Amino acid sequence: MCGIVGYIGDKDILSLLIDGLKRLEYRGYDSAGVALCGKDFYLMKTKGRISLLEEKIKNSYTNGNYSIGIGQTRWATHGPPSDINAHPHFDCKKEIIVVHNGIIENYDEIKKDLIKRGHIFQSETDTEVIPHLIEEFYNGDIFEATIKAVKLLKGSFALAIFSKRESDKLVAVRKESPLIIGLGKNETFLASDIPALLPHTKSVVILKDGEIALLKKDSVKVVNLQGEDVEIETMEINWSIEQAEKKGYKHFMLKEIMEQGDILKDTLRGRIKNGEVLLSEIKDVEFLKNVKNIHIVACGTAYHAGLIGKYILTDILDIPIKCDVASEFRYENPNINKDSLVILVSQSGETADTIASLRLAKNLGAKTLGVVNVNGSTIFRESDEVLQIYAGPEIAVASTKAYVAQILTLLLFSIFIGKIKGVVHKDFEEYIVREIERVPELVSKVLQENEKPKEISQKIVNLDNAFYIGRLLDYPTALEGALKLKEISYLHAEGYPAGELKHGPLALIEEKVPTFAISTDERVFEKMQSNIKEVKARKGKVFSIVREDFKGIIEESDESILIPKTHMYTSPIIAVVPLQLIAYYTADLRGLDVDKPRNLAKSVTVEWGERNGSWSDSFRWTR
Ligand code: AGP
Repeated sequence: MCGIVGYIGDKDILSLLIDGLKRLEYRGYDSAGVALCGKDFYLMKTKGRISLLEEKIKNSYTNGNYSIGIGQTRWATHGPPSDINAHPHFDCKKEIIVVHNGIIENYDEIKKDLIKRGHIFQSETDTEVIPHLIEEFYNGDIFEATIKAVKLLKGSFALAIFSKRESDKLVAVRKESPLIIGLGKNETFLASDIPALLPHTKSVVILKDGEIALLKKDSVKVVNLQGEDVEIETMEINWSIEQAEKKGYKHFMLKEIMEQGDILKDTLRGRIKNGEVLLSEIKDVEFLKNVKNIHIVACGTAYHAGLIGKYILTDILDIPIKCDVASEFRYENPNINKDSLVILVSQSGETADTIASLRLAKNLGAKTLGVVNVNGSTIFRESDEVLQIYAGPEIAVASTKAYVAQILTLLLFSIFIGKIKGVVHKDFEEYIVREIERVPELVSKVLQENEKPKEISQKIVNLDNAFYIGRLLDYPTALEGALKLKEISYLHAEGYPAGELKHGPLALIEEKVPTFAISTDERVFEKMQSNIKEVKARKGKVFSIVREDFKGIIEESDESILIPKTHMYTSPIIAVVPLQLIAYYTADLRGLDVDKPRNLAKSVTVEWGERNGSWSDSFRWTR
């Protein structure tokens, strides 16, 4: 998820582009760039925040004659953050200039073909194929050439394009990634999102999928992929800029919860095809075939995603699978060696304990796989293999969309390695891929039903304690539900394997201590029913997050939020959503700073009392 802007008019284009990019920086902030054209041409791009771009522009920009401009602030997906990979990108003659938000799924095959035709590429990005492809069709009409080129692109893309030879027009393209045109007097604006347009106009045209627009100072023309004219619908926006950054939601956390359905489509993009799981990012498939044991290591919410990965891998593979908290793993004496795979799960890719675990694993000869969100982060760079989760920037400290994307990525990996090891057969792969393809829609469906979570949060807002219980794949969901409530509403909560209640915690059950029972794993739903009876017998109130067909549990519970029937491997992605909402609404009802909870940081990049090198470095036992 990047942010792109465009402008055609007579205003000070450079400051307008920079201001627009700053208002979209929450969409991506690892590199940025602008290009302006008129009688003169100027292009500057750099790795790093927009403030660094401004620095570089200060030392190189001279006033000139400019009538159009485009810019982008990047959230790297293909090609790590660097000056070369920053946008804008251009063709061989540096005549066709493009900025992009999205992912070109078939960029590799297009690039190979274009190189055969003599094109020279500068960057590692998927985006750069676009100006080169347009160049193949270009004969002086950038609009026509773009229409021909985008027909060959697969994936999601919002584009702003211009040709140096035609500095009186901008071309905009939308497919799946958002793009909005801002209408002004004798000027036209373009942006990925409303915050960048609001300072200039409240009158906008939201481009629809498959639409291509020709922007001029005083006109806007929109066609479909067949080149047929499309009627333009203008709408008025009455949001404040802050509201717009959060898409009208009160907090980034709620915005990030509500966009999970869309985010999961990006996580799946180019990874499932014709009933198959394809992970082309994995380089050393041979190693996976012979791997003897797997360790998943992470912290906090990422650890809970790792636990779900452990349950699924244990169910599929017949080798030892462990899941450890990184701050423990890095100081223990893990039984890992050259036949081990260590999977490091981290949203930020910068968590100190997880990085130390990565380095320890490498020191012990293990192969490392980073499951990360931030491209170019330490874990992204230092892991032998990387699977990005494509959740986009996560601003709120409490992790939500990254969590569901981590689980989905670990599930894809589990099917992939199961296939390589010959234990996942075609029919099951096709079945589970069908189940996986339903997940984004089912998550969006559960998100629409958010009245019940609101009601339940009103019932617990003044309480002090809560329990979350689950079995097997529902146990990590219970842990995650408890963590979300704790970290943003400051209400004490504990996640517990349901079967453990009678070994102690049951003593705490009473009317004012509600229990959230998560039950989506059919292997143990009767057991869960009896655990709920145990709680009810002590006058405990039970709210269940339960699969719609588990009638017994629904009848036993005081209140239930129903989860659509899906495979036990995919249910945890859906079941956590109501728990995220309950935590959110409870914290909001308490009037707390939901996005920045006290005492917490989005990424824990230091270890208290950190000293160079971990204990085990100097006292390593030899195996
Ligand atoms: C989760 O909501 C918290 N922000 C925290 O537990 C987080 O999951 C943990 O610090 C790990 O962060 P990472 O995924 O960036 O490594």
